[in-house]
Amino acid sequence: MKTAAVAPAATFVIFGAMGDLARRLLMPALVNLEAGGLLDPATRILGISHGAGDDEALRKHLAGLVKGADWKRLRKRITYLQGDFTEESLFAALAGQLEGNVVFYLATAPGFFGTIVEHLGKAGLLDEGSGFRRVVIEKPFGSDLASAQALNRQILAQAGETQIYRIDHFLGKETVQNILVARFGNAMTEAVWNSRYVDHVQITAAETVAVGSRGKFYDETGALRDMVPNHLFQLLALVGMEPPNSFDAEAVRTEKAKVIAAVRPILPDDAVRGRYSAGTAGGEEVPAYLDTADVAKKSRTETYVAMKVAVETWRWHGVPFYLRTGKALSARDTEIVIRFREAPVTLFRDTPTDALPPNQLVLQLQPDEGIALELAVKQPGPLVETVPARLHFSYAEQFDLGHRTGYETLLYDVLIGEQTLFQRADQIEGGWRAVQPLIDAWRKGKPEEYAAGSAGPAGADALIARDGRAWNRIA
Ligand code: BG6
Repeated sequence: MKTAAVAPAATFVIFGAMGDLARRLLMPALVNLEAGGLLDPATRILGISHGAGDDEALRKHLAGLVKGADWKRLRKRITYLQGDFTEESLFAALAGQLEGNVVFYLATAPGFFGTIVEHLGKAGLLDEGSGFRRVVIEKPFGSDLASAQALNRQILAQAGETQIYRIDHFLGKETVQNILVARFGNAMTEAVWNSRYVDHVQITAAETVAVGSRGKFYDETGALRDMVPNHLFQLLALVGMEPPNSFDAEAVRTEKAKVIAAVRPILPDDAVRGRYSAGTAGGEEVPAYLDTADVAKKSRTETYVAMKVAVETWRWHGVPFYLRTGKALSARDTEIVIRFREAPVTLFRDTPTDALPPNQLVLQLQPDEGIALELAVKQPGPLVETVPARLHFSYAEQFDLGHRTGYETLLYDVLIGEQTLFQRADQIEGGWRAVQPLIDAWRKGKPEEYAAGSAGPAGADALIARDGRAWNRIA
């Protein structure tokens, strides 16, 4: 195995360093990079937050999930700066502390993204004279098409697209990156990856966790905005894109943007929204969504969505993509199912077989990452009877995955200037454009109830049954 090179030295400036993301994901990921020998010894971390604090307080906060010699080495290089993200004085103070390469990581509430970038630009902190200046922006990137376009304009007025790293943490998952290899590294898959052989595609991101303590954020966001134009569309893009002519970031991002742009805006008739009522999910008692802290009593927010998506390219003409995601469901299951067309049964007419189980390729993204291929085989015995059989590859059986947050590759890529796994402005806007009719329509009415711990609302089953198809079981 080739080993990656040590990343260039840089200062990580984390806005919102006292928050949950910095402690739960960023710090563990940086420690894992340090453990892998991928961080330059001159790497520094400068955390900014509005509360009173000092270097020790920040180190204590970030120490939550990390320990060992690698953490101890990084710990010494962490400093704290108190400041208000909306005040010029913070950026003037920051300017005095920075030189060389800098990564500005916006781990803040989304309302601050535009303001921070504007201040950074005006303070000259994004000028790349003495080293690179890169900005990492978390999601949600906008809350609809107009706000995403406005945010892109605001940011791009201060920095070039090559300086902007819009995070979609799904792209940090090893198995998500493997989709491209599974598709383009295998003649066998790519040859049948089109409307001639594929009947339909299902993309599922089912979670057992409920909204819990995230009521405030979630009630303003909902399942559609939280998961679809970003995470699920990134998966759709990886499955649906045309082959790029290299793994070069621009080549890959252009093909992804093209397929997202080919998604026909989704009509309310082709979508279902759900909201969980009380039940048991993931082994825990879950109160009804409406009884969750910080959720409005008259909330219309959905915790589940399912939709039928048309990708209007030659490759996918007539092949629906069915997408669904939800909270408090029966199992955690993120998967992509490529369902192939049924084989003609004529050959079997004098046998007990009157239909053949369709082939399906299941890319299991979590948990138990792997790939399964379902084929028809003959049941042993004198008669020609067919049954489905499963060929299965498991990542955990084949490789030592270790404990990773999914952010390691993303942070490393920011340091080395590799943008493939980050969203370009046009991809983001394409995702919002496709779901905008649902955002508009769902300002009225309310979601269909489903019991926490179930597989989702009955309407989602009806949506796909309408086309004579069924969802793969969430398991
Ligand atoms: C986040 C959403 O972006 O993705 C969460 O805001 C969701 O609501 C999470 O739970 C799912 O990510 P993962 O990696 O746990 O599947």
